[in-house]
Amino acid sequence: GAPVEVDIAGLAPGQMTTVEWRGKPVWILKRSPEMLESLKKVEGQVADPKSERNPDELTPEYARNEHRSIKPEVLVAVGICSHLGCSPITKFQQGAQPSLPDDWAGGFLCPCHGSTFDLAGRVYKNKPAPDNLQVPRHMYVGDTKLVIG
Ligand code: FES
Repeated sequence: GAPVEVDIAGLAPGQMTTVEWRGKPVWILKRSPEMLESLKKVEGQVADPKSERNPDELTPEYARNEHRSIKPEVLVAVGICSHLGCSPITKFQQGAQPSLPDDWAGGFLCPCHGSTFDLAGRVYKNKPAPDNLQVPRHMYVGDTKLVIG
């Protein structure tokens, strides 16, 4: 598949957009300062906080950091659950969802078997999904212009 170019100039903090790349949904989430702060708080609750598992496939070198991204505020991740491939839904707020912990800091919930991911796509412990969400190869070709793939 060809690389996909996307301009994220219009993305406000807390907003997410989805683009299609190789038939897969790729999420681009502009994290607010609070959202970024939450990543530190859940460090002990996620299964692979430093993205050490299967890094060649899941986390390019430039995203092997605490926010799993090139620019701290911009998450780019493939929106496909690492369990059996369902598409997780955004859960930025705690709702009436029994599968979310009381201190839920926001992230993604897979509707198929209840795996949860934080705002960096890191899977929570003791969930059926074994791995973090994939960060696809990507780069910036301008301040707000991204090329995915
Ligand atoms: Fe996501 Fe099973 S496919 S938890």
